[in-house]
Amino acid sequence: MSKYDEMRQIRDEVVALKESPLYVQRIESHYLPVIGEGNHDARIMFVGEAPGKNEAKTGRPFCGAAGKLLDELLLSIALPRSNVYVTNIIKDRPPENRDPLPAEIELYGPFLDRQITIIEPRVIATLGRFSYAYIMKKFDVALFLDPISAAHGKIFDAEASYGAIKIIPLYHPAAAIYNQHLKATLFKDFEVLRQFV
Ligand code: URA
Repeated sequence: MSKYDEMRQIRDEVVALKESPLYVQRIESHYLPVIGEGNHDARIMFVGEAPGKNEAKTGRPFCGAAGKLLDELLLSIALPRSNVYVTNIIKDRPPENRDPLPAEIELYGPFLDRQITIIEPRVIATLGRFSYAYIMKKFDVALFLDPISAAHGKIFDAEASYGAIKIIPLYHPAAAIYNQHLKATLFKDFEVLRQFV
């Protein structure tokens, strides 16, 4: 099966995911699941948390205010968005953008796992603490997880089924929109990605 077909299969399965606690809201609000977007051969994959309202309305990841900042961050290191793959752990919008529940992470996580196996990124950049925790645990990187405030901008070595990868935890752009200090940190941390562009 081609990468495209494998991704389409994931999309079809998420579309039909009636057992998700977020499914009813998706249907009632005429939302779309947000699978991910970008280059299926990307060297760098960004993993966010969950779709917000704009994303759920369009079916596209990071297309609202946080996405605008992500675009600026990518531009700052001359990395075209079309070169990377952008997705989230949770593929449906949680009500009122609340934090994802453990059961939701458990339900949607395997779709992200499959996306990683399809794309085989050399670098996984996590956006926010939920994807940071998920990816670090998935690749068994640390026995005890440092808070994101200590881990952001660092490069962690990990071993994927397809070879060695780097994990780079980053703050979530949404947290930096109204926090100039965090925003400056995020721009500085993005510089770490330059060597992998
Ligand atoms: N926040 C996320 O974590 N993901 C999106 O796609 C948009 C906002």
